[in-house]
Amino acid sequence: MGGDENPSASVEGFKKGSEMRFTVMDLLNKKAERQKITMLTAYDYPFAHLVDEAGIDMILVGDSLSMVVQGNETTLPVTMDEMIYHTKIVVRSTKRAMVVGDMPFMSYQTSVEEAVRNAGRFVKEAGAHAVKLEGGREILPQVKAITEAEIPVIGHVGLTPQAILRIGGYKLQGKLPEQAERIKEDALGLQEAGAVAVVLEVIPSELAKEITEILHIPTIGIGAGPHCDGQVLVLHDLLGLFEKFTPKFVKKYGNLRESILEAIKQYKEEVEKGVFPGQEHSF
Ligand code: KIV
Repeated sequence: MGGDENPSASVEGFKKGSEMRFTVMDLLNKKAERQKITMLTAYDYPFAHLVDEAGIDMILVGDSLSMVVQGNETTLPVTMDEMIYHTKIVVRSTKRAMVVGDMPFMSYQTSVEEAVRNAGRFVKEAGAHAVKLEGGREILPQVKAITEAEIPVIGHVGLTPQAILRIGGYKLQGKLPEQAERIKEDALGLQEAGAVAVVLEVIPSELAKEITEILHIPTIGIGAGPHCDGQVLVLHDLLGLFEKFTPKFVKKYGNLRESILEAIKQYKEEVEKGVFPGQEHSF
C-alpha cells in the first residue's frame, strides 16, 4: 500500500465488491435504518441457490433439517457432522447471504469448551459466517466465549424446539407476566454476552415489540408478530413442502408438494404408456 492511501479505503473497496456477503455490520445497520431483515432456512444446493438469488439477507441452516429433510419427529437427533455437511453445501451454493449454522442439541449445552469447539467447526470446516444457539441465561457463558473467539452468535429465545421434551409441545411462550419477564431478561442477557441478533419464536406480538424496542441488536421473529426487525421461516413451510403440520404463524407462499407430486405422477404415466422418452429425447 502506498503512503498516501487511506487504510480504510481497501476495507471500503472490499465492502463494495459485487459479490459481497451480507455482514454483521449490514445486520446492525438495517436495524438502525429501520429496514426489515429477511432470513430463511435452506439445507442444500438447489434451494440455497434460489434463496440467495432472491436476495434474502441471511440463510439459516436450521436444525429443523432434522424434521423437514431427515424426517425425524423433533430437531433433537440431527448431529454436528450432519449440520456441518449441510452448512458446507449451503455456503458453497451462495454468494450474497450470510450463512448461519444452527448448533444442534448437545453441541453446546455440555460445556463452554465444547460450545467453542463446535462453533469453530461451523466456521473452519463449513465456512459459516455465524452460529445460532437456543436458550437464555443458562447458555450466556457459551455465547460470551464463542463471541470472544470472534464468531458472531445469534441467540434464540421463546419457543426453543430443543427444549421440546421439557415444554411438552410447540406452544406459545411468554403468556404469563413472569414468563414474559424471563424471556425479556434472557434477550437482554444475550445482547450483553455479545449476540449480534436474537430470534424470537412463538411469543406474543406485544412482548416481541417490547423486546425489539429495548434491544440495540436486531430481533428476528418467527411466530412473534410484525414488530420484529426481521422475519425468518422454515423454507419447506413457506413452499408447502412439509405436510406433517402447519403452525399458525406459517404463510404458504407456494404449494410445491402438489406440483412435484403432479410432475412425478405424469412421468410415471408417460413411462408406463411408452410416451416418454419420445423422439426429441432420443439419439
Ligand atoms: O431450525 C430452525 O429452522 C430454526 C428456525 C425455526 C428459527 O431454528
